[in-house]
Amino acid sequence: MLSREESIRLLAEYGQGAGWTRHCHAVAEMAARVGKVLAPRRAVDAAFLWSAALLHDIGRCETHDPIRHGVAGYRLLTALGHAREAHVCAAHILFGLDAAEAAQFGLPGRDFVPEGLEEKLVALVDFLVEVDRPTTLAQRFASLRRRNTDNAFFLERLDRAQDAARRFMTGIETEMGVSVEGIVATREV
Ligand SMILES: [Fe+2]
Repeated sequence: MLSREESIRLLAEYGQGAGWTRHCHAVAEMAARVGKVLAPRRAVDAAFLWSAALLHDIGRCETHDPIRHGVAGYRLLTALGHAREAHVCAAHILFGLDAAEAAQFGLPGRDFVPEGLEEKLVALVDFLVEVDRPTTLAQRFASLRRRNTDNAFFLERLDRAQDAARRFMTGIETEMGVSVEGIVATREV
């Protein structure tokens, strides 16, 4: 299991201070915040949540393709022996890929979907952070649709991804009694 320090070191090594690493840090901080609110009601592995959130986009060191950066991150972290975090790199794409989609992009031919609370939180909070600023699910998907007009495969799957993210978000909001978008938007004092 990666420690907080090891995760930061890995992101610094492969991210080289690039702008996209700010998104990774923002998602880690905001996912941790949601995890904290959930913790009294659910067992949350805060260390894994933070590392997985920080490293979910590490594949952007190779490509910013909206799907292939997840595959690149999966390969990189798998090669380094970090299987749990590697799975999150692949599974955060579109809130999960089915076996046929995974195989099409060179992943092992099985489902890569966010498993467990922590993985689902990473995939959700990623959709609530535009670069390093809090946003809403609706605005983030609108932005993804605008920015990927040339990628039919990705566009066709955005409705499914948004539905999956919203269903998970609604479920934990019912448990917590507060809005996830509200938690993410709250400025720490
Ligand atoms: Fe990503």
